[in-house]
Amino acid sequence: MIFPVLLCGGSGTRLWPLSRKSYPKQFAEVVGDESLFQASARRFAGIGFAEPLVVTGDPFRFIVTEQLDEIGVKPSGILIEPEGRNTAPAAAAAALFAMAQDPSAMILLVPSDHAISQPELFREAVLAGKTAAEAGQIVTFGIAPSRAETGYGWLETGAEEHGVLKLERFVEKPDAKTAEELFADKRYLWNAGVFLARASVLVEAFRTYAPEILDGVAAAMQAAQSDLGFTRIDPELWAKVEDESIDFAVMEKAPNLSAVRFDGHWTDLGGWESVWLESDRDENGNAVSDHAIAFDCEHTLLRAESSDQELVGIGLKNVVAVAMRDAVMVADLSEAQNVKKAVKVLKDRG
Ligand code: GDD
Ligand code: MG
Repeated sequence: MIFPVLLCGGSGTRLWPLSRKSYPKQFAEVVGDESLFQASARRFAGIGFAEPLVVTGDPFRFIVTEQLDEIGVKPSGILIEPEGRNTAPAAAAAALFAMAQDPSAMILLVPSDHAISQPELFREAVLAGKTAAEAGQIVTFGIAPSRAETGYGWLETGAEEHGVLKLERFVEKPDAKTAEELFADKRYLWNAGVFLARASVLVEAFRTYAPEILDGVAAAMQAAQSDLGFTRIDPELWAKVEDESIDFAVMEKAPNLSAVRFDGHWTDLGGWESVWLESDRDENGNAVSDHAIAFDCEHTLLRAESSDQELVGIGLKNVVAVAMRDAVMVADLSEAQNVKKAVKVLKDRG
């Protein structure tokens, strides 16, 4: 049985002010009329996978249950992190939890900040990696790169066997110069951020390459409390666990990696530019929400979040404007990644 593990504890600051500390982007309707988290949960529901296991932060626990209820998905467990320690501890906790239920469990780690418009193709890709995962591989999913992206992991693929590629090297978030080199090298694919492996194989990889994280997480899981269907990880022990991503902690080091190519449509909705790209646009390239109007605009994203306000753009080009009830952000669409810096300033100001 494959347990989809929905990782949804990230903060998503590059989509501020839609994405907030108390309501990060994965729970918001970024594109379409369901949240990114709901779309991720539905992608694997009712088609032979086990019920999903959710790993999230304490403030989001009721958002998770409400949103799963809305789409009729019953989770097999909800693990609550007392605070975010990044994806390595979250994944290790999920692997230990799944193993405790079924020692031969297979897990599919899935992020909840993506748009995948052909879920059936994605499911096929996952199933294509199943045999390799059963045989002890950690299977990654590769996307044909379209730019020298420094915000992703890159997969150096080798020979193909039964639809699965050997992974020669995993490079997480390279610097700009390296990203240019990898982009020019046709062997490289982007890492989709999805991993398929037996839970026990993942735990072994942690034991070898990140033993302190594994030990810390195991202790915090051992002391976890069950509470109204949630599994609350012990806060004091969890606070001692290192903050690290699974990509740096394990994937860059493990030798037993494979890759399945995914040729369907995939986007990481990391920033406003990718939201603009994913949205329905008019003939002038404007993505305009309800309660917003664009006059003589081009290549612009206007988004008003509440029904008691109107957002009007006139003569704008390459602009993003997002009006929330309590915050407004206006930026050059190509510079919108820098909203992260503004969020830091606002946070420091308290
Ligand atoms: N439960 C939990 N706890 N989830 C977390 C935490 C945490 O502390 N931190 C992040 N997540 C969730 C995020 O909500 C997201 O859904 C997923 O884990 C991935 O985390 P990101 O922080 O968005 O990772 P990234 O985008 O920088 O990089 C990863 O994804 C890229 C593709 O989108 C890497 O795997 C890259 O290699 C990959 O290319
Ligand atoms: Mg991401």
